[in-house]
Amino acid sequence: MAAAIETHGLTKRYRSGRLAVERLDLVVPEGSVFGYLGPNGSGKTTTIRMLMGLIEPTAGTATVLGEPMPRAARTVLPQVGALIEGPALYGFLSGRDNLLRYDAADPTADPATRTARVAAALDRVGLAPAAGRKAKAYSLGMKQRLGLAAALLQPRRLLVLDEPTNGLDPQGMREIRTLVRELAADGTTVFLSSHLLDEIEQVCTHVAVMAQGRLLTQGPVAELAARARGRLTVTTPDTGQAARVLKELGVAGVTVQDDATVTGEPPGEGTELSDLTAALVRDGVRLRGFGIERASLEDAFVALTGEGFDVA
Ligand SMILES: Nc1ncnc2c1ncn2[C@@H]1O[C@H](COP(=O)(O)OP(=O)(O)OP(=O)(O)O)[C@@H](O)[C@H]1O
Ligand SMILES: [Mg+2]
Repeated sequence: MAAAIETHGLTKRYRSGRLAVERLDLVVPEGSVFGYLGPNGSGKTTTIRMLMGLIEPTAGTATVLGEPMPRAARTVLPQVGALIEGPALYGFLSGRDNLLRYDAADPTADPATRTARVAAALDRVGLAPAAGRKAKAYSLGMKQRLGLAAALLQPRRLLVLDEPTNGLDPQGMREIRTLVRELAADGTTVFLSSHLLDEIEQVCTHVAVMAQGRLLTQGPVAELAARARGRLTVTTPDTGQAARVLKELGVAGVTVQDDATVTGEPPGEGTELSDLTAALVRDGVRLRGFGIERASLEDAFVALTGEGFDVA
């Protein structure tokens, strides 16, 4: 499968000396919805700025749609819709006029279809009712939607969205997820950054995990989640007793989560789940629930880093 984005040893050291991205080898398959996941300060925006030719890498190479960046920016960028941290807007212009102006600055955009394309983009991000209001009066979420609309003015082969749901309410987040799925169904590759695990889990086919400028892992979302083992979860009012029995049976990491839940690692070779339930029942533990909870991306992240999902 061809790669929509590929980087080799991509590195950025800012003049301050801060190494923001370190020897990044990223492969974003064409047609994927690729989640670029990492805590605040892990280098996501820096990577995206390099991919879009906005800043020069210190070392390494990047190709976007098969062309080297930033060298081929002029031929590549018209095929890419981008939303990068805090879209630049003219506050004194309406949302609609911002888009008309933005489109007019694009030499590849057809002026004859401009008004219709702007209206369609506004509609697509749910901003049509507010299209006539001045952008400076927009909320953060509305500004974010307007930035997204700008990325959708033309059909694109690739969308690069830096934290597209930043500032949106839950309803807005849902709408963006739906939009991303629709775009992907049309064949657009979507590369989106996020620090929200469940967002990535809900919408992405692939994921790369960054921490402190370094890539921890990349691949299909399902593979990553599978690498983190699920968690044994026992629901019972007799938490202390259940914890004791599980420990006696050799279950690792037994923890009383609250007054109704005990968790632990799934049993290893030689122990069946039914052995555990049988022992719990024999001891008089009142079982309300028992099973292996599916591993989440968060579990995977913790398994990868050995720590929480914290700011660098
Ligand atoms: N212009 C700059 N000059 C110096 N350091 C910078 C600059 N921009 C970012 N950094 C630093 O580089 C590191 C990576 O920042 P970056 O903005 O790429 O992270 P991010 O993953 O996008 O974070 P967030 O989730 O908060 O948006 C951080 O330590 C940040 O402080
Ligand atoms: Mg960022």
